[in-house]
Amino acid sequence: MRRWGHSGGQAGYTPVEPPAITVSWVWAGNVSDSAATVLARSTDASAVTLRYSTSSDLSGFSTVVGTEGSDDVWKFDLPALSPDTRYYYGFAGSDVTGTFRTFPTVGTAYDFAIWAASCAGHSGGEYVDDDVSNAPTFDVIRARLESGELIGGVHMGDRHYRDIGSNNQTSFRNAYNDVMAASRQRLLHEQGWMDYHWDDHDFGPNDSHAGSASKPAAQAVYRTHVPHWTLPDDEGIYHTYVIGRVRFIILDVRSYRSTNGSTDNSSKTMLGATQKAWALDIVDNATEPCIVIFCGSPWNGDDSITWGSFSTERDELIGEFTTLGKKDRLFMVHGDNHFLAFDDGTNAPGGIPTAQLAALDAGFTTNDGTWTSGIVKAEQQQYGILAFTDTGSQITVTVTGISVDSSSDETEEFSEDVVYPG
Ligand SMILES: [Fe+2]
Repeated sequence: MRRWGHSGGQAGYTPVEPPAITVSWVWAGNVSDSAATVLARSTDASAVTLRYSTSSDLSGFSTVVGTEGSDDVWKFDLPALSPDTRYYYGFAGSDVTGTFRTFPTVGTAYDFAIWAASCAGHSGGEYVDDDVSNAPTFDVIRARLESGELIGGVHMGDRHYRDIGSNNQTSFRNAYNDVMAASRQRLLHEQGWMDYHWDDHDFGPNDSHAGSASKPAAQAVYRTHVPHWTLPDDEGIYHTYVIGRVRFIILDVRSYRSTNGSTDNSSKTMLGATQKAWALDIVDNATEPCIVIFCGSPWNGDDSITWGSFSTERDELIGEFTTLGKKDRLFMVHGDNHFLAFDDGTNAPGGIPTAQLAALDAGFTTNDGTWTSGIVKAEQQQYGILAFTDTGSQITVTVTGISVDSSSDETEEFSEDVVYPG
C-alpha cells in the first residue's frame, strides 16, 4: 500500500499522486536534539521530496525537497525537530520508509544505548560477496533498533574490504552503493541513525595512511554518501556531538597517519597536528561527565597496527588529558582487531577504560593487548552495545560484547560497567 495517498500536510490539501520513483537506499545521520539529515539514492527521479512525521503512517507529514548531489544521492536536512522524538519518513512516489530518534536536549540526564562495531566483508565469510557483507549480524542489530532498545550506532570502519588504492571516486561510490545493496545492511539503515568513520580497508589498502593515493577520493565521497555530522576540516572526517550528558568524539586515524612502520618518535603521528589540537580543545571544553572517544585504531595494543606503535603520541595524549583534568572522564572505543574485549583501565594505557568491539563479519586476526574481559574470538560475527544510564549525578557506561551465530542466535560474552561521577 502506498503511504502517500492517505493524508496531506495541511488542511484542505488535496494530494496529487506523484510519479513512482525508485529509492535504492536511505541513511539517517547528523542527528541532534533539533535536526537530522537523511540521504536517499534515487536514480530515476528529477526531484525527490521527503515526507516526515512523528506518526508511523506519516499522517500530518511535513516535507523537505532534496538537493541532488553526485551519483543520484539526494540530501534532506530536516530542521526544527523535537528532542527525544521518533520520526518516520518516506518519499512521494516510493514505498521506502525509514525512522530515527532525535537526541534529547543537550545537558539532559538521559538513558540510552547504541551499537558499535567494525569490520564487515573480510573475504572467506559465508555472507561475504565481493568484499561486502550481508551477515545476520545486521539483522540482530536492526531488531534492537526496531524495538527501541538502541537509538542508533557507530560503524567504526572496514565497512567493506575493497582496499581501493587509487584516487577513484567511482570506486568509492560503487563500494557505498554495493554495501547498501546488501539487504541486511540496507534494512538496518531504515531503522535508525548510523555514524561512521573509516578504517584502513575502506579508506585505502591494508594499513593505509596519509600517503594513500585513494585519500582525496575517500574524503570526497564520504562527504556526498554519508549523512555526516559537521566536519571541522575540509579533508579529514573527525567530528563530535553530545547525547544527553555524554560527549562523543570521533577521530580520523587514516587521513593524517604516518606509516605504521615509521620510527616511533615525536614526529610520528596517527592524528596529525590539526586534528590533535582540535580533539584536545574539545576535551578541554567538554562539560559532560563522560567523554567517549572513538579512537580508530586499538588504544590498548602493542601490535604495529595499533596505538602501540604510536606510543610517543599516545603518551603525549595521556599527558594532555591528565593536564586538562579530564583523563578520568574518558572511555576509549575501537574496532580494527577482529575480536571482542574490554579493559577497565587496569591494563589500558593511561588507565582509560577501553572497549574493542568487532567484527561484524570477519574472521579472527591475532591476539593483542591485555584485557580484563575477553579476548572473545569464537565467532565470525560480533558486535558491541554501549548503554548509558544517567542518574543526573553519575553516568554508568555498560559495555556488552555479543556474538552471533549463523542462526542469528546471540551470546552475551561479557557485560561490564564503568561509572563516571558528575
Ligand atoms: Fe578489519
